Amino acid sequence: MGNRYESAEVTNILNTFKDTMASRAFVHEFFVVLVASFAIVQMAIAGDPDITSDFLVPANVSLPQLDGDFFTFTGMRVLVGSDPPPTFSVLKASLVEFPALNGQSVSYAVLQYPAGTVNPPHTHPRAAELLFLIEGTLQVGIIDTTNKLFNQTLQTGDLFVFPKGLVHFQYNADGQKPALAISAFGSANAGTVSVPNNVFNSSIEDNILAKSFKTDINTIEHIKSGLAPKP
Ligand SMILES: *[C@@H]1O[C@H](CO)[C@@H](O)[C@H](O)[C@H]1NC(C)=O
Ligand SMILES: *[C@@H]1O[C@H](CO)[C@@H](O)[C@H](O)[C@H]1NC(C)=O
Ligand SMILES: *[C@@H]1O[C@H](CO)[C@@H](O)[C@H](O)[C@H]1NC(C)=O
Repeated sequence: MGNRYESAEVTNILNTFKDTMASRAFVHEFFVVLVASFAIVQMAIAGDPDITSDFLVPANVSLPQLDGDFFTFTGMRVLVGSDPPPTFSVLKASLVEFPALNGQSVSYAVLQYPAGTVNPPHTHPRAAELLFLIEGTLQVGIIDTTNKLFNQTLQTGDLFVFPKGLVHFQYNADGQKPALAISAFGSANAGTVSVPNNVFNSSIEDNILAKSFKTDINTIEHIKSGLAPKP
């Protein structure tokens, strides 16, 4: 009985809605929009698009010739026994460097921080990042959409997760020792938007930046010159 009452109530509400709008087309559109919004929400919670085959092979690779090499990435071997780099360095194994990752929603980066260096504030638009600190210490931070900072000082062996799309940074505050971390991403192509580069090294007009940062053009040009490629 309860169910019948409820469905009668729903029918009543719908009829009233239809009468008020005096247009069946509007009701139809309303439901189309509702269904479409649901689809968008579903897309937003997914990782990379799912694939309908075991794996994806680039067009210039022939299937019969495919072997274990296709699924192997050797680009990290350079790290074995190497000296730490002079500046902060990232070695990536993403879709570009390792085509077999296409459609698999995973990728890696190895991050090397000489003493006192920073990985400047940046975001990964397409994936969360799970950082595993395997050498040294690191100060890390996330800034959420309300501009609240969540920071931490990581010790060797710690993991830290940077949520998808949020601005974050890592800083090796140790003046003597380097730090080494491995980051996993939930996308084959997480993408990186570096805040300093994106804003001050992308040809946005000086006056727009000066107004946006409530400062003068000289200050903007000074910041820009620090990021410009050295001749
Ligand atoms: C296929 O094309 C990519 C990109 O141009 C290239 O790096 C790769 O070596 C090519 N593979 C083969 C088997 O030709
Ligand atoms: C977090 O940041 C604040 C302000 O910059 C700093 O004083 C504090 O030491 C940091 N905490 C950790 C755990 O790194
Ligand atoms: C600024 O952009 C140029 C051109 O894209 C690039 O070569 C340079 O490395 C960028 N600067 C920094 C600090 O990344």
